[in-house]
This record gives sequence, structure tokens and C-alpha cells, in this order.
Amino acid sequence: MDTITHKKNVQKYYSKRAEDYDGQKVTTLKSKQGFGAEILNGVTDALAGLENKPVLEVGVGSGRIGFPLLEKVKPWLVGLDLSKKTLELAKARMSHYKQRFDLILGDAEHLPFQNSVFNGIVCISIMHYFVFPERSLAEFSRTLKEEGVFVYGDVTMHELDSQQFLDKLEKTLSQAHARYCWPSEMRRLLENQGFLFSEIKVIPYRKSYLSLMGDREKYSDVKPETLHKCIRDATANEMKLYLIDSKGLTLFYTLIAALEGSRS
Ligand SMILES: C[S@@+](CC[C@H](N)C(=O)[O-])C[C@H]1O[C@@H](n2cnc3c(N)ncnc32)[C@H](O)[C@@H]1O
Repeated sequence: MDTITHKKNVQKYYSKRAEDYDGQKVTTLKSKQGFGAEILNGVTDALAGLENKPVLEVGVGSGRIGFPLLEKVKPWLVGLDLSKKTLELAKARMSHYKQRFDLILGDAEHLPFQNSVFNGIVCISIMHYFVFPERSLAEFSRTLKEEGVFVYGDVTMHELDSQQFLDKLEKTLSQAHARYCWPSEMRRLLENQGFLFSEIKVIPYRKSYLSLMGDREKYSDVKPETLHKCIRDATANEMKLYLIDSKGLTLFYTLIAALEGSRS
């Protein structure tokens, strides 16, 4: 599938699913402890000190990260997304801070900004939609100022998942998915773009099959049986890596903070 068709699929998926997505994800962030809060704290810590500075959130979605960023870090925020519907939700959620953000319909691979304009770029739970992650990383590097902070967060495969079990599982469940990376692969991609490495954190979390299915039946026409078949087909090693049992499995969320290096 070519990248334009793929992006149209992502766009279509989020225009249909935006409100349900927002409802599900916001509930996970509300818990004071645990996975959602850990990601949010990781992002705000990495961007601390950027009050009133321009920060871009690529794939801002419905603003579930953008809103707390405006509240805690207080940057001048630009939120960019492929989906008009999610941007409408973000606009409503962040309206209290309307003097301090702009929202733009756009594509991560073709950022409509000049070189070296942002002090920070945030990219949370979106890189697995990119067929060629290096293209968007090149755009992030181009538009970040020297020593600007890049924060990446996404589900990644287990470093020892050599047969890419998790990626195959996700592909059978979602037409919008492009591919999951390994943490070391993402680090290498960043280094290849000249980013200086700052911090990497891999957060394991449990996911029940029920929550992994989520609203996939409704939006992707996937039956729970498809998921259960993939799980039954897992090898003994894959079962061990992802701690697969009768109720669910362990996934890994990787957060990376990196600095834009010198271009001279
Ligand atoms: C899983 S949601 C994450 C939203 C938000 N970052 C969050 O954590 O709640 C993924 C978002 O990325 C957007 N997206 C996917 N591919 C994109 C691209 N090439 N350029 C811009 N946005 C994109 C989707 O439209 C969707 O809103």
C-alpha cells in the first residue's frame, strides 16, 4: 500500500473514531498512579523550562496530552494532526488556554514550518502509524532549534521479539497500523538523524484482551476470535516475553527524550 492511501486510512479511521478514542484514553490518564500518569509525567518533565516557548505536538489528537502540557509546562503550543475531527475535540478541550495554542491540519512528514523554530517537539502514540518513521524524524530535526527537546512515546516490541509477534498481532487488528519499532531501533533512527541521546524508559503494563479489542469490532470489523487465534499461535518464547496468560498480556511503552544536535 502506498503512503498516501495509508494516511487516508488513518484519517478516515480517526474521523469515525475520534470521540470513542478520546473517551477511552482520557479514562486511562485519570488514574493518579500507573501507566497514563507515568507517560504524562515523563513528557512534562522532559519539557520543563519551556514556559512561553514554542512547542509542537505532532498528532495532537483530541488534546489529552496537549491540555495537561498547557496547564503544567505553559508553552506556546502548536498542535498538528491529520484528522480534522480530532482537532475539533482538541480545540474544545483546550479552549481555556486559547491565547496559547494553535491547531493545524497537517502531515508529520511535511511540516509547514521553517527550519529551527521549535524548542520542543512531542510525538506520543503516533509513530506506529508511520510507514517511514525516518521521514518524519528528519522533519522534526529540521524544525527543532539546536538543543531543542524531542519527546517520543509509543508502544514498542519487546527487544527480543525477533519474529515481530506484536507487530503481526496489531496488523491483524488494525488497518491503520503501519509498524511497531523495537526501543533500540528507535534510538538508532534518532541517532541517524543527529539527535543526541538523553533518556530512555521502557514502561511495562498489563493489557486485558477485552481492552486490547476495545472498539476494534466497531471500527475495523475485527472479531475477538481473530485476536484469540493470534494469541493461540504465539510460540513459547513469545508467551514468555509478553507474559501471555488466559486474560491478557504485558505490553511495553517506550518514552525517549532526545536533544537536537548541532548542525555545523
Ligand atoms: C493514537 S492517537 C494519539 C493522539 C495523542 N498524541 C494522544 O496521545 O492522545 C494518533 C493520532 O495521530 C494522528 N496521526 C496519524 N498519522 C499522522 C500523520 N502522518 N501526521 C499527523 N498526524 C497523524 C491521528 O490522526 C491521531 O489523531
